[in-house]
Amino acid sequence: MAPETITIRRLDETHDSIPRLTALLHRAYKRLADMGLRFLATHQTDEQTLERARDGECYLAIEDGEIIGTITYYPPAMAHGTPWYDRPDVASLGQFAVEPALQGRGIGNMLLDHVESLARRDGAAEMALDTSEKAHHLIEYYGRHGYRFVEHTQWSVVNYRSVVMSRSLIE
Ligand SMILES: CC(C)(COP(=O)(O)OP(=O)(O)OC[C@H]1O[C@@H](n2cnc3c(N)ncnc32)[C@H](O)[C@@H]1OP(=O)(O)O)[C@@H](O)C(=O)NCCC(=O)NCCS
Repeated sequence: MAPETITIRRLDETHDSIPRLTALLHRAYKRLADMGLRFLATHQTDEQTLERARDGECYLAIEDGEIIGTITYYPPAMAHGTPWYDRPDVASLGQFAVEPALQGRGIGNMLLDHVESLARRDGAAEMALDTSEKAHHLIEYYGRHGYRFVEHTQWSVVNYRSVVMSRSLIE
């Protein structure tokens, strides 16, 4: 369980620092960059961070006033780009990161639980995500959280083939 001192709240564009959010994403995704995987979040600009956040609902994990994690939730109407994402009952998530020094404390689980609750609120039957087919540690992590392989896809902006994974939100 993550410490109770951590709260999750929506990104506030007027007060939260987008450069700090971008820097957190770059730090967290560095491990993937070091594996040769050019995820957008390894090198995206502040403008791209904001654009991606605005495509859905961006949430922040906050501790002592600092941004220590983030996730962006895409309600079913906003999740699109592959046959599975295009389904009307499928929500998705992205821009998912936790400060490297604070990983392994359950903050990622807290963020996943948060967006899965929002998707249930929105009537979604499934929560989907995608990652590199070469990121075996992430495929295993999501697998432990109930996500199963659905399909492959090739995004034009990355240098790897992606796996789309999904979990049922129906108890
Ligand atoms: C993927 C990522 C967001 C997960 O965040 P996290 O905070 O490390 O995740 P958690 O701590 O919730 O879970 C990681 C593991 O830590 C361990 N863990 C969980 N809670 C813990 C706790 N309180 N104390 C110690 N270990 C704990 C568990 O082994 C857990 O795995 P499991 O829940 O599958 O068994 C984070 O590793 C990250 O930022 N990675 C780089 C960016 C990235 O890969 N993003 C996803 C791209 S698709």
